[in-house]
Amino acid sequence: MKTEAVILAAGLGTRMKSDIPKVLHPLGGRPMIAWTITASREATGRDPWVVIGPDADEVQLAAGEGIKFVEQKERLGTGHALMQSADQLRDRCDQVLVVHADLPLLRAESMRRLMEIQERNPGPLTLLVAHSGVSRGFGRILRDEDGRVVGIIEEAHASPEQLELQELNVGGYCYQADWLWDHLSELPLSPKGEYYLTDLVAMAVNEGGEVAVATVEDLDEVIGINTREHLAQAEFALRGRINRHWMLAGVSILDPSSTYIGPDVQLGRDTVLLPNTHLWGRTVIGTACHLGPNTIVRESVIGDRCKVEASVMEGATLESDVDVGPFAHLRKGAYLGQGTHMGNFGEVKNSTLGAGVRMGHFAYIGDATIGEGVNIGAGTVTCNYDGERKHRTEIDAGAFIGSDTMLVAPVRVGREARTGAGAVVNRDVPERGVAVGVPARVIRKVK
Ligand code: UD1
Ligand code: CA
Repeated sequence: MKTEAVILAAGLGTRMKSDIPKVLHPLGGRPMIAWTITASREATGRDPWVVIGPDADEVQLAAGEGIKFVEQKERLGTGHALMQSADQLRDRCDQVLVVHADLPLLRAESMRRLMEIQERNPGPLTLLVAHSGVSRGFGRILRDEDGRVVGIIEEAHASPEQLELQELNVGGYCYQADWLWDHLSELPLSPKGEYYLTDLVAMAVNEGGEVAVATVEDLDEVIGINTREHLAQAEFALRGRINRHWMLAGVSILDPSSTYIGPDVQLGRDTVLLPNTHLWGRTVIGTACHLGPNTIVRESVIGDRCKVEASVMEGATLESDVDVGPFAHLRKGAYLGQGTHMGNFGEVKNSTLGAGVRMGHFAYIGDATIGEGVNIGAGTVTCNYDGERKHRTEIDAGAFIGSDTMLVAPVRVGREARTGAGAVVNRDVPERGVAVGVPARVIRKVK
């Protein structure tokens, strides 16, 4: 049975009060629509079709590779949106899965169950429902005395008794394809001047067709986003989902309510996340690390047994047994070798620190290569920028950089050399040389 998915994403999202299309608002660090695309792709095994409004270039960009788009030029409702895909999809599949783009937490398994129930349904359609007293504006499922589904009433048009109904229309449908294409064009105009997709239910029932339901049990999945409040509710639910996943995988999280882990992050077992830790991007963290409190890590790689406290890392790499912070800033291209120590108020950018380097107190290391076991004194600065270009600093293994040394790049400090406190090093220091003063001169060899 071949199923194609159509995601309805052309709505204006007026209730968001935003200049950004609703489906581009970020959730868990990804544009909302990316979640629905991923789940539907997993459910059907193929790239979905997306119905977009006019001027939706940004939505197309965010949707990524492989997606096929259909434009709804005038926003005349959910039924009208699906109609736009008819020409492209007719005769292309046996079933059509339709999902609203504002249901980002709906899982692939739920979509799959919807498809499977429809496969066995002799009638033309199956809809996703949920049971909840919190409606978030969802339509209510109407049933007859025998319990058969007979229609959907929109909240805006519901009577007080109908508003009491707790069986909700989630916004996911699976149709027998030929039936769908034959009936879409017959949808009546609603009192609001729109074509409601939900009216297909009553049309099926009037013909004697059976409408089946697939129930979503996890109510987090059906947080539909119409307002910013709903968006915050979804973010909270997603965070819970991700944190639970990692706790089950052997990661300790002291305070899940203040721990933020992006969907593309990887963590090793026995790692401990302390409060207010934020991990984003394609960050990979090894085993038995201690991160936080108050730590932000983006697009970084951290080895095993590392400790990062109250620090910020972006695009950086730590080998194993590295200890960072508090108050360190590791920027793009920072690479800290095995067992290095970077203490408070340090910044490292585009630099490699060899194994065992010690940099305990405030220092700036940019565009540098630092050999094994080098000691970087408090207040050391690589003066890497001359106002026009960046230059490199090289410090060879075993060197000792005295407190407050200025390394005026390009410059090289040789193996096991030393610089005196306050030295301004603007010429290379030879192996085992001792350089002091401003500008620094070599006064002798290390004994
Ligand atoms: C819709 C359903 C409601 C259901 C709810 C659950 C209808 C008439 N109502 O209400 O029964 O409980 O979803 O999710 O279907 N869209 C377009 N083009 C349009 C209008 C909407 O593509 O002209 C898209 C939107 O981008 C959105 C989806 O369709 O992703 C739903 O539209 P929305 O306006 O949010 O419908 P609801 O009022 O939530
Ligand atoms: Ca909606």
